[in-house]
Amino acid sequence: AGLEADRSVPTSNRVQNRQTEADAATPTTAFHNQPDTDPALGANRAWGRAILQRSVHTTLGVDAIAAARVETAEQLDGIFAAATAAAEKWAALPAAERAAVLHRAGDELAARRGQLLEIMAHEAGKTLAEADPEVSEAIDFAHYYAERAKDLETISGAEFLPSKVTVVTPPWNFPVAIPAGGVLAGLASGSGVIIKPAKLTQRCGAVMIEALWAAGVPRDLLALVDLASRDLGTRLVASPEVDRVILTGAYETAQLFRSFRSDLPLLAETSGKNAIIVTPSADLDLAAADVARSAFGHAGQKCSAASLAILVGSVADSKRFERQLVDAVASMRVGLPDDPSTQMGPIIEPADGKLLAALTELGTGEKWLVKPRKLDAEGKQWTPGVKTGVAEGSYFHMTEFFGPVLGIMHAKDLDEAIRLQNAVDYGLTAGLHSLDSTEVATWLDRVEAGNLYVNRGITGAIVQRQPFGGWKRSAVGAGAKAGGPNYLFGLGEWAASELPA
Ligand code: SER
Repeated sequence: AGLEADRSVPTSNRVQNRQTEADAATPTTAFHNQPDTDPALGANRAWGRAILQRSVHTTLGVDAIAAARVETAEQLDGIFAAATAAAEKWAALPAAERAAVLHRAGDELAARRGQLLEIMAHEAGKTLAEADPEVSEAIDFAHYYAERAKDLETISGAEFLPSKVTVVTPPWNFPVAIPAGGVLAGLASGSGVIIKPAKLTQRCGAVMIEALWAAGVPRDLLALVDLASRDLGTRLVASPEVDRVILTGAYETAQLFRSFRSDLPLLAETSGKNAIIVTPSADLDLAAADVARSAFGHAGQKCSAASLAILVGSVADSKRFERQLVDAVASMRVGLPDDPSTQMGPIIEPADGKLLAALTELGTGEKWLVKPRKLDAEGKQWTPGVKTGVAEGSYFHMTEFFGPVLGIMHAKDLDEAIRLQNAVDYGLTAGLHSLDSTEVATWLDRVEAGNLYVNRGITGAIVQRQPFGGWKRSAVGAGAKAGGPNYLFGLGEWAASELPA
């Protein structure tokens, strides 16, 4: 099914990002996205196979996580005190010096691409096609925020007060790029950082952080923690020393964090329930491939993933699109990540709750076009599923499942399709496949989501080109978009009059 984050989107494919605040600003400094590894080269494929073999028994990150263990509140308080003291020195440096360290961090991440792929396959079940662009994104964050850090000293007359300690609580689904983004943004803003990687992918976080330490980021300034209890987790987020929390996770987690401390300065990217509309003017071959990739890349475990395809008018009636989609989905190779031919790997934990229901049950009027099958006893390996007949307002229409199941809805026209797309509580990503410029303009005007993609898949936002963040229940807090020029402003205090317009 091709690489996940296509870094060479044809210029004819219009890609539009809904901007908030200053995200639309033109970058003032040169920045180039990192290229992914080219699998067309035999040497790269051999390199990849060796990495996947090592991934089965890898011990990468084990030592760093053991050293990060925090058992007591006193220990955690000591980490806060050290980070606060280190942040004072760090914030006092000229921005250009901070930028130089962050650029080195990008180089160290690039030098460890193989290690990062190895631990992502092991811990997160990521295929190379999914993990390789993620490493590129992490490297991009380093170089990008290094350049943006310099803006903090060049925006005239503005006084930026960095937060002292930024706490980063990333998810397991992008276990390298998302923690890297939070940590690097915090550092770029002159803050100390404490990072608690997601339990399921701690070692991915550790290998990424080791690269930053190797680049010269002081260990006091950037602390990696593995907390022994939930109480310590609450303390981590609710401590008065924390003046910024960067969370990527469920909407409910953001609400929980707020319940710990109502004045918590939170920058949270939360859940999504994302749809791609396909109109009769679309290139249906391209649309079917993009829908399949957006729905089943990393087994659908992306907040940006397509959970719904909304077929308009004759696209629904003719069944041609559905047949193509079924062919694309049913022929996907499902397996384990150490097999280089695997296109869709396992889900991170055995399916249960909402996801298990979505994989095994049908709502009123729904029927399977491709029925998911469980391939292992544990319930982590599933073939991808597609159900059609999803009704407006139904459970499937409204609920995020975070797994390999796609629902199809039918709409009589574009108006109705947009209404169905907007009816959900979330507004993270949204897609349109259409070759009609009037339809595109109508859609861009009315769709309610943060990242909009036309004639392209809806996952794999690219740093700087597609700053990432949502509307509605997909964002909580400052609302700045990751990988965009406004992000650092969400990490400090600005006089309101100085906020970039
Ligand atoms: N940034 C990721 C994407 O665009 C999701 O976190 O797919």
